Amino acid sequence: MDSKSFIRAKTEARKLCIVTCYDYTFARLLSKTAIDAILVGDSAGMVIHGHSSTLGMNVELMRLHTEAVARGAPQHFIIADMPFLSFRKGVSAALDSAHTLMIAGAHAVKLEGVDGHEDAIQRLSQSGIPVMGHLGLQPQSIRGYGGYKVQGRTGEQARDILRQAVTLETLGAFAVMLECIPAGLASEITSTLHIPTIGIGAGPDCDGQVLVLQDLLGLNIDFQPKFARPFFDGARGVLAALAQFDQAVKAGTFPSSDESYS
Ligand code: KIV
Repeated sequence: MDSKSFIRAKTEARKLCIVTCYDYTFARLLSKTAIDAILVGDSAGMVIHGHSSTLGMNVELMRLHTEAVARGAPQHFIIADMPFLSFRKGVSAALDSAHTLMIAGAHAVKLEGVDGHEDAIQRLSQSGIPVMGHLGLQPQSIRGYGGYKVQGRTGEQARDILRQAVTLETLGAFAVMLECIPAGLASEITSTLHIPTIGIGAGPDCDGQVLVLQDLLGLNIDFQPKFARPFFDGARGVLAALAQFDQAVKAGTFPSSDESYS
């Protein structure tokens, strides 16, 4: 898979499936799947580092996560998130940030929004760095929204998100992620654009879907957004294994002689 195949998938009406990943162990598992792309999301700030937002992520942290994922899944198409403000300080700073992520093993970058950094998006695309846009709920703008809220519910907001999506396509983006917008709006954007839309909380009509790995594995015990269907009861399985280990150690049944060296 590459950015051109993304666009081909849309023309062939083939749905695209993306999962986030931040570390080597899960990347190894993802490398055994048919999943189309791995997103090294800045959601690492919340899922891995335990922050309440993605704002604490920076290029150096994203570089480390991207390198670990690239080592684990070297054949997969890897998209790395450009962290908070890393594409808002001018074209040259955006190129430097993207350069770091591409050298770390990314094949494309994702960045939120479009207004005010059109030049950076265009220059990245023209420099051979495939860019995925990200519209609707943009977690890096959470302080501006005053919370994680569905976007695009008013006619004016909806028109604005559609306008931004068209602008992204014009600037050379190869795909656009749509987060937490009404399904009808996502459907309209999907039928307007020639590049694929990837939804998360944006209904079934997007050209593809993405989920945070820990959500889809049912590992997130603190928060489960409506759109994040758990495909596995991961937390229950992990907790059961930990309880069994604890009991075995305390009962003196672990390790056995087979698990010990002579
Ligand atoms: O950082 C991330 O995980 C994202 C999600 C919306 C998939 O961008």
